[in-house]
Order: sequence, then C-alpha cells, then structure tokens
Amino acid sequence: MTTLTPILTKNWHQPDSFTRAGYEREGGYGALRKALTLEPDAIVQAVKDSGLRGRGGAGFPTGMKWGFLPPSSPNPRYLVVNADESEPGTCKDIPLMLANPHVLVEGVIISAYAIKSNHAFIYVRGEVLHVIRRLQRAVAEAYEAGYIGKNILGSGYDLELVVHTGAGAYICGEETALLDSLEGFRGQPRLKPPFPAVAGLYGGPTVINNVESIASVPSIVANGADWFASMGTEKSQGFGIFSLSGHVTRPGQYEAPLGITLRELLAMAGGVRGGRRLKFWTPGGSSTPLFTDEHLDVPLDFESVGAAGSMLGTRALQIFDETVCVVRAVLRWSEFYAHESCGKCTPCREGTYWYKQMLKRLEAGQGSEDDLDTLLDLSDNILGRSFCALGDGATSPVVSSIKLFRDEYLAHFEQGGCPFDPAKSTLWA
Ligand code: NAI
Ligand code: SF4
Repeated sequence: MTTLTPILTKNWHQPDSFTRAGYEREGGYGALRKALTLEPDAIVQAVKDSGLRGRGGAGFPTGMKWGFLPPSSPNPRYLVVNADESEPGTCKDIPLMLANPHVLVEGVIISAYAIKSNHAFIYVRGEVLHVIRRLQRAVAEAYEAGYIGKNILGSGYDLELVVHTGAGAYICGEETALLDSLEGFRGQPRLKPPFPAVAGLYGGPTVINNVESIASVPSIVANGADWFASMGTEKSQGFGIFSLSGHVTRPGQYEAPLGITLRELLAMAGGVRGGRRLKFWTPGGSSTPLFTDEHLDVPLDFESVGAAGSMLGTRALQIFDETVCVVRAVLRWSEFYAHESCGKCTPCREGTYWYKQMLKRLEAGQGSEDDLDTLLDLSDNILGRSFCALGDGATSPVVSSIKLFRDEYLAHFEQGGCPFDPAKSTLWA
C-alpha cells in the first residue's frame, strides 16, 4: 500500500506556514544556502539526475529543459514560473502558494542561480487575489532577509524577482501566450519552435516551469537526486500533489509518489461520497480522456496512464458518481473551452463553438445517432490541427465519453431528454 509523502505539503497545518519565520523553523532556505556553495551546473545535473518531470501537465524533463538554454546569447536569460493554474479540477499550485509561498520563492532563487539568470517572474492568475498577496508578502520577506536582491547571502549572485498577475484568461497558462501577456500584449500562443528556451521573454533564452516543479527543487538540493528518484516509478520519479475533487468524501490535496492508484487515494479520502458507485473520472483535468471504475488500479504515472488511454496531466482527479449525466458534464467542459478559445486558429475557434451547440441539443434529447459521428468527425478536425494544446484538450472529454458512454448519449434521444432528470428518468432512481 502506497502511503502519502508530505514534502511540499508538510507544514500546511501550521498556522504560520506562509511566513518566513514559519518556513525557516522547518529548515526553509537551508537548501538555498547549500545551493550557493555549489556550481550552477552541478544543480542542473542534480535536477537531471533526480528525474523531475514538469508538474504542469506535460511531464517534460525539467533538467533537460534547463539544458536547452544556449550557452551564450546577447539577451539576458529569464526564469518564468507558470502560476496561471486554470485547468478545470486542478487545484494544487494555488493551495501550495497560499500555504507555503516560501518554498516556491526558495525554488525560484535556486533555479535561477542554476540556469545563471538574474531576472525571474512568477506569473500568477489574476483572480486569486489572496494568493497574490501571500506571494508578494513572501517575496518582500525574502528581499528583507537578503535571499533576493544584490549579492545574495554574500555569494556575489544577484536576482530580481517580480510577481506579475494575469487577467483571467485560461490561454495565458499556455507558455508562449503567457510570455506575450507578460510582455504586455494580448495573450495568444506563439509558433514553436523556437521554444522559449531559445527565444522566450523579450526574445531572450527563457526557462518556463510550473509552480510545483520549481517548488520541488529545494528538496532535491537538500536531500539529493537519489532521494527524489527513489520515489515514484522507474520513468516517473518523485512525488506529486494529487487534487481530489467532486464526489469524494474528503476532497483536497494528497501528496504521494507518482504511481499511486486512484483506489489507494480514494481509500485515504473516505471513498466516493455517500458510498455511491464511481462512474467516471479525469486523471489529469478535463483535457485528459475520461476513465471509469475499470481504471481504479491504473498507476498514476506518465507511462501507465498513457498506456491505459489517457494522460497524467495535472493530476486533477475529478470524481463523478453514478448520479451524474456524462453528456451534461461534457457539455459543461465544452462550454468552458469555447469560452476560453483564444480564436487564433479555425479548428479550435469554430470547433469548440460547434461542440457547444451540438452538445446542448444532444443533452436536451434532440438530434440523432448521426450527430455522434459528426462530433467524432469534428474532433478529428480539431485534434492535431489546432495551433496549441487547448484545441487538442477540448476533444478529450468529447471523444472519450462517446467511446465509453455511447448508450447514455443514445438514451437522451430515446427518452427525448436527459435521462438523469428526476422528473423524466427511470435511470435516476
Ligand atoms: P509541450 O509538451 O508542448 O511542452 C512541454 C514543455 O517542454 C514546454 O515548456 C516546452 O517549451 C518544452 N519543450 C518541449 N520540446 C522542447 C524542445 N524540443 N526544446 C525545448 N523545449 C521543449 O506541452 P505544453 O503545451 O507546454 O503543455 C501541455 C500540457 O499542459 C497538457 O498536457 C496539460 O496537461 C497541461 N495544462 C495544464 C494546465 C494547468 O492549469 N496547469 C492548463 C492547461 C493545460
Ligand atoms: Fe487559440 Fe484554440 Fe488555436 Fe490555441 S488551439 S491558438 S486556444 S484558437
């Protein structure tokens, strides 16, 4: 039985966990002191050896990304933290920054030192005012202690760190749209390559990492790469925060080694609410294909989830019990994607609008089985043809729900409405 590994979450229960004093009492900023005695390249190597993979969803090896920075450039190097957490169901970076902002700040300083950057930004979504205030206070406290600024702790290393707030667009979590937004433009994805590592913020070499990835760096420096790599699976090393939400008895953030299963996590979280049956769930937010109760024992690591037909994504485990209409849930997600599509490319802009229109009709019991084929055909024209991952992600709930719950779609036509409507349904009881 896999157990929890509270590392990033270990001090969340302390009333002053978000203060510098509270963080230092638990050994905070010790990793920074150690890092400053090391050569920057040794830290990059440690992160490579640890096996840390991007915790924002894609799982790209963090150390390898750092290694893509060109050795020399006329422009300054930047470190940008993507704190624009917005994937439906994903709720790990925001509580982490709220409860323990200093572990992110310490991670930023160490990571910026490792990649030889003197300018770092944390781009945080604008709606979470309480988190922004906590972060700004933590950064101010770190400046006061000499952890940021000129000649950090007498090392000769300088760093400026800016907390920048977004304005509430999901697309600004896409790394190149984030860069446009940070530069003051409307946030829309840029063509890749060049990847940000080569030409990013203001055209300079830029590392962009997720909050949880950067917050994991102090523990790797403090405990060593082997310690980190000893957790998780062979190719998905370390620990991660799993956000359980929806119809679960005790929703929340569960920090555990990658490779834990939903069955194990549910046992810790008190099971499905009201003892009901698990109907479907997302392993990594709504942009990942749905799973059912047949997938309870799939190890939640990048490889196993992929082999089972979905993606680990952001580890946003949204739990839906047997009372939920899958068509209604997919409609709700599709409305989100249609609203958040930035409009730059036709497959996503038009496709997500069509999804919304068609699913509304289907959910109301109008249309026919042919519409399911049209939805799948439409999905073929979005997936792989969109400019960025938002369009691809929008197809996941639609395609997987038709594959797994075709009968439930058909029941809508047959009954002339949603079978889960208590006024009409025989399935409801
Ligand atoms: P990606 O696979 O295109 O890139 C991942 C990272 O690796 C990027 O930083 C990219 O610059 C870098 N990279 C890849 N190939 C490279 C190369 N050859 N040279 C240099 N750098 C390279 O994935 P993307 O589009 O950045 O992220 C998609 C994921 O984001 C999805 O899987 C989804 O799970 C997740 N997501 C997370 C959200 C959140 O709120 N945390 C919101 C929406 C999506
Ligand atoms: Fe914009 Fe959607 Fe195209 Fe991405 S896929 S560039 S969000 S329209």
